[in-house]
Amino acid sequence: MSRILAIETSCDETAAAVVEEGRRILSNVVASQVALHAQYGGIFPEVASRAHIEAIVPVIEQALQAAHVGFDDLDAVAVTCGPGLPGSLLVGVNAAKGLALGRGLPLLGINHLEAHIYAHWLRVEPAPAGSAPPELTFPLLALIVSGGHTELILMSDHGQYEYLGGTLDDAAGEAFDKVGRLLGLPYPGGPAIQKAAERGKPDAFSFPRAWLDGSFDFSFSGLKTAVLREVEKLSTPPQGHILANMAASFQAAVVDVLATKAAQAAEEFDVTAVLLCGGVSANQALRVTTAQRCPVPVYYPPLFLCTDNAAMVAACAHHHFLAGRRAGWDMDVYPTMRLA
Ligand code: KG4
Ligand code: ZN
Repeated sequence: MSRILAIETSCDETAAAVVEEGRRILSNVVASQVALHAQYGGIFPEVASRAHIEAIVPVIEQALQAAHVGFDDLDAVAVTCGPGLPGSLLVGVNAAKGLALGRGLPLLGINHLEAHIYAHWLRVEPAPAGSAPPELTFPLLALIVSGGHTELILMSDHGQYEYLGGTLDDAAGEAFDKVGRLLGLPYPGGPAIQKAAERGKPDAFSFPRAWLDGSFDFSFSGLKTAVLREVEKLSTPPQGHILANMAASFQAAVVDVLATKAAQAAEEFDVTAVLLCGGVSANQALRVTTAQRCPVPVYYPPLFLCTDNAAMVAACAHHHFLAGRRAGWDMDVYPTMRLA
């Protein structure tokens, strides 16, 4: 049996969780800084690291209390060590090192992108729609779509990854956030655009799709510029049905490319399933369209496990723990860490 305390501070959520066997969530505490950053229209790194410092100890204490465990009941401490904002990562890594050293527990350093994939191994009862079955068969295709990353990853076994393609400029979530700002919507742009799009027509504006044929790469900066051009044509900030149509047409353009490339990769690499991972996998249009186009089942985690959390870090750490991997006390933060 493994019982792991995990810590996540790579971006703007201070999170801690206790998970058993990489599956059973005993606690999952997330202190969000969204309200703090909304006034700047995006993440302010200095403000993020300071907020992590204030939140980290209470969040860890809450995670232990809610799980009804003490340090003696833990087998390891795991922490996200990259990729992410350096100042934010440092807070979690130093907290984890202090706890592990002080309590004589093994330390594990976890890649944030790999953790997003492992959200699919966490069990939630009753199983929400779209969640993966208890046993997943390799090979699997992971579409990681978050604020900082857009990657198609072929996973041939636990810990075995091949990079198929990724964004050449903006990440999908970043595009949602930037276009949200252009449209005058609150930060983060993703959920706000999804909401505005509900009342709009996805074909009202014919925004460009960067197909980059023959590769599994993505590009969203041209799309962002196309939205800007439409906004510039207006005499006032977009409102009402124009806003709804722009949001729906932008969302449709992003989803069209992501879903099509995921379906092509699923076919080419003969995977058993597609795993949507990261904050943008909360997007309903992406979930539905990817499932329609893919030749195999498409799974997505429940909303609270799509966005940043520490339960997914613990789920991932479980497999590293079983494989005997441990981090040294010299573990650093790796802001540009890659998965493959
Ligand atoms: O994985 P995540 O929580 O943090 C990173 O690792 O970056 O992803 C955050 C991103 C933000 O860009 C946010 O706008 C986007 O996920 N997001 C969404 C939705 N919910 C969150 N994008 C589109 N539709 C959503 N419903
Ligand atoms: Zn993330």
